[in-house]
Amino acid sequence: MLILPWAAVSAAPAPTPWWTHAVIYEIYPRSFQDTNGDGVGDLNGVTRRLDYLQHLGVDAIWLTPFYPSPNADFGYDVADYTKVAPEYGTMADWDRLVREARKRGLRILVDLVLNHSSDQHPWFKESRSSIDNAKRDWYVWRSGRTDGEPPTNWESIFGGSTWTYDTATRQWYYHIFLPQQPDFNWASPGLREAMFGVVRFWLNHGASGFRLDATPYLFEDPAWPQDPDPKAGAPTWLKPYNSGRAETHQVLHDLRSILDGYPGERALLGESATATIEELAATYGPRHDEINLPMDFLFGNLTHLDAGMFKHQVDDAELRLNGDPPVFFFSSHDHPRQWSSFGDGAHNDDIAKLTAALILTQRGTALLYYGEEIGMRDLSAAQIAAAPLGVHRPRADYRDRARSPMQWTAAKGAGFTAGTPWLPVADGAGQYNVQGERDDPNSIYRWYRHLLQLRHDTPALRDGAYVPLEAENPQVFAFARTRADGAGVLVVFNMSEATQTTQIRGWPGATPTLDRVLLANPAPAKGTSSEMTLPPFGVSISSLRRCLGPDDQAVSARCTNRSTTLSMISRQ
Ligand code: GLC
Ligand code: CA
Repeated sequence: MLILPWAAVSAAPAPTPWWTHAVIYEIYPRSFQDTNGDGVGDLNGVTRRLDYLQHLGVDAIWLTPFYPSPNADFGYDVADYTKVAPEYGTMADWDRLVREARKRGLRILVDLVLNHSSDQHPWFKESRSSIDNAKRDWYVWRSGRTDGEPPTNWESIFGGSTWTYDTATRQWYYHIFLPQQPDFNWASPGLREAMFGVVRFWLNHGASGFRLDATPYLFEDPAWPQDPDPKAGAPTWLKPYNSGRAETHQVLHDLRSILDGYPGERALLGESATATIEELAATYGPRHDEINLPMDFLFGNLTHLDAGMFKHQVDDAELRLNGDPPVFFFSSHDHPRQWSSFGDGAHNDDIAKLTAALILTQRGTALLYYGEEIGMRDLSAAQIAAAPLGVHRPRADYRDRARSPMQWTAAKGAGFTAGTPWLPVADGAGQYNVQGERDDPNSIYRWYRHLLQLRHDTPALRDGAYVPLEAENPQVFAFARTRADGAGVLVVFNMSEATQTTQIRGWPGATPTLDRVLLANPAPAKGTSSEMTLPPFGVSISSLRRCLGPDDQAVSARCTNRSTTLSMISRQ
């Protein structure tokens, strides 16, 4: 039997840009770390916690909006694109944050709200001031129908009409979100230049790129058709007339060109919800020249553990995006937290570890949402209802369930604030907090760290090709990651509450031998690369020894049959 050493077959592949295999950590600055006792997190709080992020092992931070805003939609209604809101700090705080992040090898992406501004933005105030104002066409204004009804019967994503009437100028303005978030008109050259100026402003201030908000909605059908049944067909947020319009490509291409003119591999991460994998593939651009990293909502919107469904989505993302890096995530400031949404009430911690491994073992880029690495859970509906509305929370929003303060310690205020937090601390903070979990070898935090280290240190996990495999047991999802130099990793998940044994088939060419377990939870799996037994909600990540030789098939038979009892390698 001939076994080639790992790196002996071919030279290592050429280095790829950082974003093709990065882990990006989303921070909701309002809830991460308060440094001045007002109960609201701030930029200095993020700076204070950079050592933590470096220790965790992420590559970049996505900061949700910290610009001046009336907070009708917590910062996603921007009143000034080139300032820091006083509650989050100052431009000097931002500059310091960038400097300190760089020292630690961390990049920062800022959230760019492209589709709309606040109705309190001076641009909109000007635009609404008269029909012939120079900025009138920066927003989308239309006259109503003859019967006094709004121009179309379309529904906004947050409910109600997409149109609000302006009594002074007797026209309606369009908003796919709240009435306080009027849509920009991207067909207006003036608006385009102004927004590209914003882009340059943050690139000049050290941003490594942007998370682009709501990219599907930049253009609407210029024929403004009536919807025969707004409640039927595609969901409100993906109607053919309100999203995914062809004109969007030019804007995204122009944006990408601006970024590519700067040094340092700046990148665009897109909130690019699509209905199909083909549409998602198109968001990268025909020549891979638009969004570097469009988030895969076909994966991110999955809500329960189903091995077949995950295999389908991952196969699609890996094999049908023309080789571009897929972007996987589970939790965000808009989604429920995965500990709560996937947890079954009995195995939540193991399920949290399984979902973490599901995204961190993939090719491409993964997004983590602050607190998922310690198993934070959602606020209950009762906690949200009881949280006061007021200056810190002007509008009731069910998404606040996933925006509670980061749990640094078991103390009151969770180490997030010395004051009263703007939202209550979630249940479970006594057990699920950074301080306690750092010292517990079985904690969710330690699992995330192991996974992140493994991803960085294991070439096959970092940039190996995805190899789809067939698990004959429908509760099991299996795939491999392999490199031309022979390095490989097998990843297997049991997505059920019972022990499962499965055959694993579909290896291209010779079946490789399992080498050793790199990481496993809750207990090591038993078996070979063609048959494996996993504990409930078990994850098994093992390296492969590829058996190559002139008589490949014969060698492969010998390799496959070598049964191994896998033992956990500790990586504390
Ligand atoms: C995006 C944001 C969401 C916001 C919406 C409107 O979906 O992620 O939080 O409400 O855009 O800006
Ligand atoms: Ca504060």
